[in-house]
Amino acid sequence: MTSAPRRLFVTTALPYANGSFHIGHIMEYIQADLWVRFQRMRGHEVHFVGADDAHGAPIMLKAESLGMTAQELVAKIAAERPASLNGFHIRFDHWHSTDTPENVELSQTIYRALRDAGFIDVREIEQFFDPVKAMFLPDRYIQGGCPKCGAPDQYGDACEVCGAVYNATELINPRSTLTGATPVLARSDHYFFRLSDPRCVAYLRAWLSGVSAQDGPPVQTEVANKVREWLGEEADAQLADWDISRDAPYFGIPIPDAPNKYFYVWLDAPIGYLAALKHHFDVGQAAHHWHQQSRTLQDFDAFMNDAQVEQVHFIGKDIVYFHTLFFPAMLHFSGRKSPSAINVHGFMTVSGEKMSKSRGTGLSPQRYLELGLNPEWLRYYLAAKLNARVEDVDFNPDDFLARVNSDLIGKYVNIASRAAGFLNKRFDGQVIATGTASNDASRSVELIKGLRGSADSIAHAWDARDNGRAVREIMALADRVNQFADEVKPWELARNPDQADQLQAACSTLIEAFHILTVYLHPVLPSTTEHALRFLNCHHQMTGGVLPWSASLQFNPEGGRIGAYEHLMTRVEAKQIDALFDAPSPTAAASTAPTKTAPAEAAPSAPTISIDQFNAVELRVARIIQAERIEGSNRLLRLMLDVGEDHPRQVLSGIAQVYAPEQLIDRLTVLVANLEPRKMKFGVSQGMVLAAGSDDPKNPGIYLLNADSGALPGMRVS
Ligand code: MSP
Ligand code: ZN
Repeated sequence: MTSAPRRLFVTTALPYANGSFHIGHIMEYIQADLWVRFQRMRGHEVHFVGADDAHGAPIMLKAESLGMTAQELVAKIAAERPASLNGFHIRFDHWHSTDTPENVELSQTIYRALRDAGFIDVREIEQFFDPVKAMFLPDRYIQGGCPKCGAPDQYGDACEVCGAVYNATELINPRSTLTGATPVLARSDHYFFRLSDPRCVAYLRAWLSGVSAQDGPPVQTEVANKVREWLGEEADAQLADWDISRDAPYFGIPIPDAPNKYFYVWLDAPIGYLAALKHHFDVGQAAHHWHQQSRTLQDFDAFMNDAQVEQVHFIGKDIVYFHTLFFPAMLHFSGRKSPSAINVHGFMTVSGEKMSKSRGTGLSPQRYLELGLNPEWLRYYLAAKLNARVEDVDFNPDDFLARVNSDLIGKYVNIASRAAGFLNKRFDGQVIATGTASNDASRSVELIKGLRGSADSIAHAWDARDNGRAVREIMALADRVNQFADEVKPWELARNPDQADQLQAACSTLIEAFHILTVYLHPVLPSTTEHALRFLNCHHQMTGGVLPWSASLQFNPEGGRIGAYEHLMTRVEAKQIDALFDAPSPTAAASTAPTKTAPAEAAPSAPTISIDQFNAVELRVARIIQAERIEGSNRLLRLMLDVGEDHPRQVLSGIAQVYAPEQLIDRLTVLVANLEPRKMKFGVSQGMVLAAGSDDPKNPGIYLLNADSGALPGMRVS
């Protein structure tokens, strides 16, 4: 792996400014943020910017329908952005907008350069026009019958019923969805980028094969194959010219020397990447001083012309065409460098369902945050599922819960909680470095050596955006560490005062191992790991807000001691996930808003009942004689209960995330014995065991009730 410092300019796609972020956006930002954080850990210079894509007809028309100006709508959406970005620990150096002076200047400059190089044509075209609105109509605002199958109410470009693709002018009985008027054909001059110029295909082929980049081809193989298809096979293949103008009224950037003509939004949107960086360099720096290197003033033009600078864009698979044909051609033929990498990801689905691009899915990132769910659960889950290929990523609620709980809590956090208690209680937090005289057992030394030996391979996976592989490797290391703990059994050593030295040595090695995993996980769990570094007294390793990757090689807590163990992360509870997907009712919405009051008091009380009503509930002491997991369910345990009857009762209880079956055997608890038997997917449940719990996402535990010993199965509870 190269160790010379890289200079990186990184962006994510610019979201349309007519709606809140949906989970697809957040997934893209998490993927990019993780990569950026990793690059910073490696000591590279990174400038990471995003922006709102403000222009275009849909935003103009939506603002109009809301009775505001387009600028007002864009500002309203922009005001929401920081809460979501900060909420998921996504740290752009700057978030800009395409409706800004920088973007006007850059777009017009690039256009003029293209025009001067002979790449712009003006041609008259014929198009549908809404005579009532006095506006040319984009395809999506025209509806009519499908010319192929006759299905009514199809949009101007394609039929959702038979899949046919056609021109809006072919629709049967077309009408404007804006006014209902029948559109008329009208002529107007349009500006075209002459992609048909033979120089374009030649250049794009060269760019695609990676001749101009330091690091080989700028796109993944599967993307390159697609782009080659678009570019055509034959030596003299040509691209179609690209219509880059729109007539007034339009919310966009005026085309120089062309009255009433605006750039089509897709011309100025990718130039918005450059505008965001320029603003960041020119004025935005002072406001973002969390990180040393972005404070240094940079000259935008010098930076963009520096051959060493890598320009890296993260985008989704639906906008590849714009980024691999139009954008590089536009940059190159206006005398600029082309992107070094276009990193394409697949789409997010939720429980296998596709989401609508504008409405998102049932999984609202804003609601996720409002409910108080830990953002790093989602970061981890998505990282575990992402790789460098263009594959869709499914959010599956059961899988999410199982994955986060078993990996992050069961494997990673568990190591610290197992070892820190002994060190703090018995040894005042003092750790003995593995490999030194009093901690030199060969299996300890081997363990730490093995963990450190994986640094390059994990780094390689993060760098290659093979996040799933990085996560798998790290979790395999965590397994080794837990296995070490199971073998040396600190809890047994702790029983014997003679073995205090071994106990301290073993726990020190466990903590040292935990520290290594903490560094490896830092790109994906920035906050949890920073928290961990504080408790390890290793926070001094973060310099200028950045934890160097090489910190994994050195465990040197201040004063040779770790601090008191602090709870690093809670488990995901099934009901938190349920709340995430429940449509919030007006009352539920009020009670699920983050509350500052104590959760137990916050639960509303029920109306009073008579003693007879209470007695109607038959509560009995039950002994759990058998408990087992249910295949196919992450939530349910199958309990067999002795209630003093001839046969044990089967109860299916939603406590699997909180209790391991072994923990429950022989416990006395309370059963609602006269509850109507309930047929569930995994069998009949004959009653319900009682447990405490609250709806507060901050304390989502479930606490099974106990009967004091001496109580006998079947005794009535009253
Ligand atoms: N405004 C354009 C991009 C201009 S870039 C110069 C746009 N905006 S968008 O809001 O529709 O999409 C923004 C990004 O989100 C794109 O990369 C897009 O692929 C991505 N996603 C949109 N829906 C998505 C999913 N369901 N899943 C993952 N990413 C998704 O396109
Ligand atoms: Zn059809």
